[in-house]
Amino acid sequence: MKKQKIISLILIFFFSLQMGYAQNYDESKVGEYQLPELLVTESGQTISTSEHWETLRRPEILKLFENHVYGQVPKDFDDIKFKITKQDKKAMDGKATLKEVAISVTRNNKSVTINLLMFTPNKVKKPVPMFLVINHRGLKTMDVTRQNKDGFWPAEKVIEAGYGISGFDVIDVSPDDKVKFTEGILNQLYPEQLKMDNGMRGLGAWAWGAARAIDYFEKDKSVDATKIISVGHSRGGKSSLWFGAQDERVAITISNESGNSGASLSRRNFGETVDRITTNFPYWFCPNYRQYANNEDNLPVDQHMLIALIAPRAVYVASAAEDLWADPKGQYLGLKEAQPVFKLYGIETDLHEEMPIVNEQVILKHMGFHNREGKHNMTPYDWQQFIKFADAYFKKQ
Ligand code: GCU
Repeated sequence: MKKQKIISLILIFFFSLQMGYAQNYDESKVGEYQLPELLVTESGQTISTSEHWETLRRPEILKLFENHVYGQVPKDFDDIKFKITKQDKKAMDGKATLKEVAISVTRNNKSVTINLLMFTPNKVKKPVPMFLVINHRGLKTMDVTRQNKDGFWPAEKVIEAGYGISGFDVIDVSPDDKVKFTEGILNQLYPEQLKMDNGMRGLGAWAWGAARAIDYFEKDKSVDATKIISVGHSRGGKSSLWFGAQDERVAITISNESGNSGASLSRRNFGETVDRITTNFPYWFCPNYRQYANNEDNLPVDQHMLIALIAPRAVYVASAAEDLWADPKGQYLGLKEAQPVFKLYGIETDLHEEMPIVNEQVILKHMGFHNREGKHNMTPYDWQQFIKFADAYFKKQ
């Protein structure tokens, strides 16, 4: 029996190799790759001004991501209503105000409700900048009673620093599940998207949900809606980048260990690949993306172009040294390769050729990066760096 098991494991290993499933973690085997041109339009025009970037190339790249990677993000609905379902002005021992907001969106007589949780610091007497977390780790990580203090959402620290912190559980918009992902806005509000090869799926739906949170912040006087900081970890980080790329109301976009189809370059053969991600998580992407499995060179985009769409607003990429699946170096390069667009706006960003050493934070004018020691997670250390970056960025504005 034991022998049989070993034989089948060996067979699976060779089968996987043949199918191209084996992951590469060897830098010397990454191979050569050529990124698609960031600053040349589909008709061959070279872009050299921010105006031409905004009117010609940026819209093209947005469409390419919609059509080939994440699917469309529909903007139309018939009605949106906000209802404060709970308020506690003495939360966190009097240091913060808690609000729970039901955001109900209706289209074609069908509705979906997103429950937004938020704390704002009582010591700040003007509208505050707000961290908004696209949270796939469940409500337990955002305990409003604060009995469970999870490092993933360290609300006390954020409040102490003078920021608001908020978040919603992605289950409200699209459950993070291969089968149930349609149960939120896809079935209810946008069923036609499910029939389209470039239709919205999970990551796009979460970004749609984050946009509705900003719709609310624009109406809440305790929040400075010009200073929204979008945060997501891993799959949430992919969605945060896609959200920040599209929605120009986001002031700072943070990607924590978003890896493949997030900040890291798809053409680098290191860690997770388009094949792996579209096999394990097909419901995150539009169906068209699957054709680039083991075929990354034919993708009309790479992930540096997603980061470039955020310019001239700020972007922060965080990685973890042991999180090789997410390819820390690939994430650094994704950020670095986006620099030419920031330069079009006269923003001098100059990331070094070499990735910074572990635990060293780089804060440039509109870009930040760190590679924390340790494993895949979002931790109080990461948050400390996000706050430092936000402090520096908002001070300069
Ligand atoms: C899986 C997946 C990654 C993703 C991660 C996460 O490992 O392959 O792409 O980022 O889950 O969300 O934690």
